[in-house]
Amino acid sequence: MPATDTLTSPQVIDLAKRFLIGNYTRYPVCLVRGEGSWVWDAEGNRYLDFFPGWGCGILGHCPPRVVEAVREQVNTLIHVPNTWYTEPQALLAQALSERTDFGGVCFFCNSGAEANEAAIKLARLNGKPKGKYKILTFTGSFHGRTMGALSATAQPKYHAGVEPMLPGFVYAPFGDLAAAEKAIDAETAAVLLEPIQGEGGINLPPAGFLEGLRELCDRHGMLLMLDEVQTGMGRTGAWYAHQHWNVKPDVVTLAKALAGGVAMGGVIATPEVGEKLKPGTHAATFGGNPLAARAALATIETIEQDGLLDRAVRIGERFAARFNALKAKCPHVLDVRVKGTMIGVELATDGAAVVQECLKRGLLVNATHGTVLRLLPAINLADEQIDEGCDILDDVILNLKA
Ligand SMILES: Cc1ncc(COP(=O)(O)O)c(C=O)c1O
Repeated sequence: MPATDTLTSPQVIDLAKRFLIGNYTRYPVCLVRGEGSWVWDAEGNRYLDFFPGWGCGILGHCPPRVVEAVREQVNTLIHVPNTWYTEPQALLAQALSERTDFGGVCFFCNSGAEANEAAIKLARLNGKPKGKYKILTFTGSFHGRTMGALSATAQPKYHAGVEPMLPGFVYAPFGDLAAAEKAIDAETAAVLLEPIQGEGGINLPPAGFLEGLRELCDRHGMLLMLDEVQTGMGRTGAWYAHQHWNVKPDVVTLAKALAGGVAMGGVIATPEVGEKLKPGTHAATFGGNPLAARAALATIETIEQDGLLDRAVRIGERFAARFNALKAKCPHVLDVRVKGTMIGVELATDGAAVVQECLKRGLLVNATHGTVLRLLPAINLADEQIDEGCDILDDVILNLKA
């Protein structure tokens, strides 16, 4: 077997097409190296990455403190199961808890879907004595691909072909408090939502929506569970996006940026709710392993020491100024939605053409829900990089065919 990085892009693509299941649409590029917001392909072409790791690369590629922590830990102890205590896991739980406003306790797993599965179990365990098991979620949401998380995802296109969904999920339109109230009944155990919808198109909650849901949950003995897989860990300029509003959730789920690009998921729950997970009720073999936990600790340390929560806000402001200026002169831009480094630009046409053209020009971006250009850049992106990428985007969008 050859060592890695010895094959050309076409050779890798040929192998992948023969031996991988084709469940992803991939660009015909083989990436081999990354540094900050730059990545290189096997032929040495350089790309500016405004979507590093699909939201996982909150510090860009190979952030030095994370690399160093992983390098050190991999030489010491890679994995032990949760039958043992490890210092990195305990320190990480403390660090995440201390950044909440509700003294949360943590459970660790390996992905966003897994984190939401744990939240779904928590809702059911918590609601069981009162006969509550249903979970209310919202149209346009995305919670993951496992069957529980998928059932929570209120988008029929993702359900197609794998029905029936798990029983007990009810859906209401995102942002509609009256509809949410109508959708619940005595059996509703929890409300689960992304404080800002990501995959759904960077949809910010209308004023009072999150606070209204909190009040609804309090009134009906339901848990407020926030999926912060995409919004968490500083992405919006706060450790957890809900901290921008006046709400305290019962459960928060995390993944993506949590360990700076290393696979990790997590749940933070109030102590009263967290204690519902007892030995035997839930587990994840790899969950909270020392390698991922060290990477997460180094991620938090970097964000804090480099003042990156503030930087995320500044980055958002610079992008917003650029895209609003574009909107003023370009009929293809219908709306600009920004919260820190969650950036959505609603286009009048399909976003896929923009993604393709940007790729040709060495810029990596994403489109979601057909018409929304989505950027989740690193929160240490430099002003010059923003300007360089936005110059390309301006040109591409201005020249779109109607
Ligand atoms: C809000 C949200 N929740 C859950 C998930 C699923 O995460 P994962 O792909 O790590 O299972 C995603 C992934 O995009 C997400 O954006």
